Amino acid sequence: MKCLILYWSAGGNTEKIAEEINSVMLEQSISVDLIKITEDLNIDLFDYDLVFLGAPSYQWIPPVPVQKFIKNTMERYRGGIRPIGAPKKSGKFGVVFCTFCGVHTGLKEGNVAGKYMAQFFEHIGIFVLDEWYTPGKFHGWDEGNRFGKMGDISNRPDEKDLTIIRNNTMELLLGLNFYQETDKRI
Ligand SMILES: Cc1cc2nc3c(=O)[nH]c(=O)nc-3n(C[C@H](O)[C@H](O)[C@H](O)COP(=O)(O)O)c2cc1C
Repeated sequence: MKCLILYWSAGGNTEKIAEEINSVMLEQSISVDLIKITEDLNIDLFDYDLVFLGAPSYQWIPPVPVQKFIKNTMERYRGGIRPIGAPKKSGKFGVVFCTFCGVHTGLKEGNVAGKYMAQFFEHIGIFVLDEWYTPGKFHGWDEGNRFGKMGDISNRPDEKDLTIIRNNTMELLLGLNFYQETDKRI
């Protein structure tokens, strides 16, 4: 199996999550590429069996470089997108992860960005296995980090958050065997 971890991060929160997923893959001897998104990144996602896509939430959606990457990649695969069902490509799986501060309305501030990325996967035929949301401090905004809707997030993502990501990744790998076997039978 080949795994790709694509992410964008300005302040390092999302990068920490990406690196944690990467370390689990390496420990499990899974072939993995960890790549930070740039606007001109040109990569064939279908070279991989499992693709992670991660970004922070900016004004509830992924930041512009991630939006541009998604737009460009959609263009690349446009010919394969059909009116009903997209359709799903056999053996291609994805997970999205998002960091968000949720200072004003909580988890909902991350959900939209995560769903945006998940829709991208679905449109090009990658089956979305999960969406992971992790609180991440808003760099340089002390008041927001201490008194926002999510409580004190000054040190998030912290070790507990990374343990959750680690456990999620392990669980996902265990479940993936099931998905891959089921996929072969359809
Ligand atoms: C320009 C900007 C806009 C943001 N907008 C939101 C938002 O709408 N909702 C939210 O929950 N967090 C928002 N945040 C907080 C980030 O999503 C959060 O701090 C994230 O973990 C930063 O990730 P990074 O360190 O990987 O760049 C925003 C941060 C910045 C800098």
